Amino acid sequence: MKAFELFREVVGGEWLDANAHWTVDKIKIGDENVTVTKVGTCLTATPDVIRAAGEWGAQLLITHEPTFYNHIDEFDENSRLCRMKKQLIEENNLTIYRYHDAMHLCAVDLVNLDFINRMGWKGNFDNNMVITLDEPVEIADVVRGIKKNLGLKNPRVVGATEGKVSRVLLLTGHRGGGDYRKFSEGNDFDMVIGGELCEWADAEHVRDAAQFGEQKTLLILGHAGSEKSSMETLAFEIDEKFDGIEARYFECGELYSYID
Ligand SMILES: [Fe+2]
Ligand SMILES: [Fe+2]
Repeated sequence: MKAFELFREVVGGEWLDANAHWTVDKIKIGDENVTVTKVGTCLTATPDVIRAAGEWGAQLLITHEPTFYNHIDEFDENSRLCRMKKQLIEENNLTIYRYHDAMHLCAVDLVNLDFINRMGWKGNFDNNMVITLDEPVEIADVVRGIKKNLGLKNPRVVGATEGKVSRVLLLTGHRGGGDYRKFSEGNDFDMVIGGELCEWADAEHVRDAAQFGEQKTLLILGHAGSEKSSMETLAFEIDEKFDGIEARYFECGELYSYID
């Protein structure tokens, strides 16, 4: 199977064709016709991920985030780091495709679905970013669940630290301030679980709301931390689905390191 054939099967060829004029889900570097027997997945193709995938013998690497530091992966010849990364990718004989838009915009947001599945949550999920849990959960148990099930070291908590939540808004990855403002100003949700935000503009509201006695909690997992497990799940799925193709997830880890 060639790289472009596998990618079309994974993403959905009809979706790609219908949205080709704007989606970032396409080849970023390499050869779309390379024959694939080993495919890696990752949240972000960092140098360590590229080296590990190359060493394992992957021909194709499917990443969720950009490789060259901007949304459309425009290669910047003037960027020293872009040039270093390109050289490393070529030395490791990798073809890189990006799988991002379809994960969020198909019938179900696959990143948020994966988060819910890993948390073992039961409830009413709108297939996009809202889940109402059947049974309210203690805030501390949500944090413990994230540490245990997603392997994140230190989810950060803003606002209320005690009490139960059932109406949860999932803003994994990066979302604009408007979504966070809807939470802090409105009364639709008890908790937001987000990737990254602008603290002074979008998080201080939540701290203030809690100090006014409102039951509002914001959990910030980091951009990579909030989305990466979905790409591990993708590797399992590719490995299962395609005969003669081995798939493996390459962990980029959380962006931040913690020194105890
Ligand atoms: Fe994403
Ligand atoms: Fe993202």
